[in-house]
Amino acid sequence: MKLHYSTASPYVRKVMAVAIETGQADRLERVTRTITPVQPDADLVRDNPLGKVPCLVIEDGVALFDSRVICEYLDSLHDGPKMFPPSGQARWTALRRQAEGDGILDAAVLTRYETFLRPEERRWPEWIEGQKQKFRRALDGLEAETRAFGETIDIGTITIGCALGYLDFRYQDENWRASRPRLAAWFERFSERPLMARSAPQQIR
Ligand code: BEZ
Repeated sequence: MKLHYSTASPYVRKVMAVAIETGQADRLERVTRTITPVQPDADLVRDNPLGKVPCLVIEDGVALFDSRVICEYLDSLHDGPKMFPPSGQARWTALRRQAEGDGILDAAVLTRYETFLRPEERRWPEWIEGQKQKFRRALDGLEAETRAFGETIDIGTITIGCALGYLDFRYQDENWRASRPRLAAWFERFSERPLMARSAPQQIR
């Protein structure tokens, strides 16, 4: 299966983490795309008109996106422990945590584009601050919830792990650990797992 890929993308990292945890990383042929919001990659746009990674082309030529869809598809292909709990409270908890992690990422990635790509004179400081407040509030919520994570590995904790990894990658000045010690301790342990260690930006193998 061809995976349109970027090592810096935390959404791609989610897909790789699920593929590693479910023993399917070798099935993905990664094709690196250089993407910006204003210069779409022509090959990628042919498979995903939104021009976004990750995009997975499955055997019969059908393209799947976004990370949520691809992760659930990969989870349907193996017989081991499921990353998407099939039903009940565990499912809703995992999906809500996925939404929290994706929400942190959406705010952080939009802010990254606004600060890194947009010319300085066109930036909107209040908007940037509003996005940062979104992910800071979500992190405070996760700090209160961390004890309930236990040793769970599912799409919820994977997405939260990828979100925290992205903050470390692009927002080192944010120092998110300072007021969230339980979340920091959980992330320390979670980062040591192969699904995180092997999917870290620049290190996927
Ligand atoms: C980044 O370089 O931060 C990035 C790349 C792709 C998707 C999202 C973020």
